[in-house]
Amino acid sequence: MKLWGGRFTKELNQLVHNFNESLSFDRKFYRQDIAGSIAHVTMLARQGILSEEDKERIIEGLTGIREDLDAGRLSFSPEYEDIHSFVEGVLTERVGEAGKRLHTGRSRNDQVALDMRLFVRDELDELDGLLKELLKELLAQMERHLHTYMPGFTHLQKAQPVTLAHHLGAYYEMFRRDRGRLFDIRRRMNVCPLGSGALAGTTYPLDRAYTAGLLGFDGPALNSMDAVSDRDYLIEFLAALSTIAMHLSRFCEEIIIWNSNEYRFVELDDSYSTGSSIMPQKKNPDIAELIRGKTGRVYGALLSILTVMKGIPLAYDKDLQEDKELTFDAIDTVKGSLMLFTGMLASMTFRKEVMEESAKKGFTNATDAADYLVNHGVAFRDAHEIVGRLVLICVESGRALDDLTLEEFRAVSLVFEPDIYEAISLKTCVEKRTTVGAPGAEAMETVLKLYREELLCDDGK
Ligand code: ARG
Repeated sequence: MKLWGGRFTKELNQLVHNFNESLSFDRKFYRQDIAGSIAHVTMLARQGILSEEDKERIIEGLTGIREDLDAGRLSFSPEYEDIHSFVEGVLTERVGEAGKRLHTGRSRNDQVALDMRLFVRDELDELDGLLKELLKELLAQMERHLHTYMPGFTHLQKAQPVTLAHHLGAYYEMFRRDRGRLFDIRRRMNVCPLGSGALAGTTYPLDRAYTAGLLGFDGPALNSMDAVSDRDYLIEFLAALSTIAMHLSRFCEEIIIWNSNEYRFVELDDSYSTGSSIMPQKKNPDIAELIRGKTGRVYGALLSILTVMKGIPLAYDKDLQEDKELTFDAIDTVKGSLMLFTGMLASMTFRKEVMEESAKKGFTNATDAADYLVNHGVAFRDAHEIVGRLVLICVESGRALDDLTLEEFRAVSLVFEPDIYEAISLKTCVEKRTTVGAPGAEAMETVLKLYREELLCDDGK
């Protein structure tokens, strides 16, 4: 069933139809397509372009189609080229003449531009909800682990002690920025392309601002050629999805390391792990690995859309149809990853003692030992040298700095007094770091308070 038979004398080659069609994937936004059509005819009738009776008949027909599709009573017949021709075709079958008036003052070019925008806008909101769930879970874990000491790493070498709350807090910031990015994109993309026609607007007296308002847009898009061919918001959106995937992937990488036999910082719940078909002892972090792996296809989508867009002359060209499958795939991938990740995090056990033991064993308090000397008048470079010598003694005898006797400390520098032990205890090292953004519980509490307020206040949105 075609929308453009008049000018043609021959039937479409079947392979051409198969290559050209988009119904197999743009059916995903039938609800948005129908909502757009309802807004369009409402405006047409208000402007006197369509009679009230036709409008009523069309809206009734469209609502019925949506209900039938929702309930699975109507199936997408593959002879239609796309969702737009399918809906219009079924509508005309059902309501007759009035159905043929639906497309007045509209082109599939502004129609598809609208549908995709509406679809992505809904998905942005869903993604925001999923990010928020993850932030809530992270916040709960942070509150629980304000005093869970662990090594902080640089170069994957133990560096200075932090807390688990602080480490998780770094991811909190990343996902918080991701929400901000989605918010920015939503604001910028929220203009309505409908009424742009094929590329040059129409001669009908459309009220574009009215349609835009009906569909929850801030206003109509201001250039009809741009409106039908702009996919910038998809590029921004896929960049934001890529960033979310990248953050999840980094987090997964850490969880995989922490779950390894060597680290044992965490234990994944049985319900989020898989076994091996041959090695009975194995409990594998497949979900974390899959989320890490799926990041590749999200980046792929971003690169694809950038490449599709780079050579498109104004205005609409069929290349633009290629924006859909990759976007849908990236959305499903990131939504799935977020859901699975939040569940994995919520069900995971953190091994507090193992983390603390690891922080103790890795000389993570060496900087604090040097700072102790500096506080007693030693120049930092000399202090660095002194502590370096102490570390060497420890390495040779398999001990931690805390295990050295006072005599051993004083053999290297007489500045050391008995209070050195207190000064380099894990607790002191962490809790004394109280500047904004640091791991000390006092500093963390201030930040957590802000996070709590932020989450609460947009609950009421
Ligand atoms: N399926 C098309 C797309 O996704 C709809 C627009 C078709 N417009 C056209 N002039 N052929 O872009």
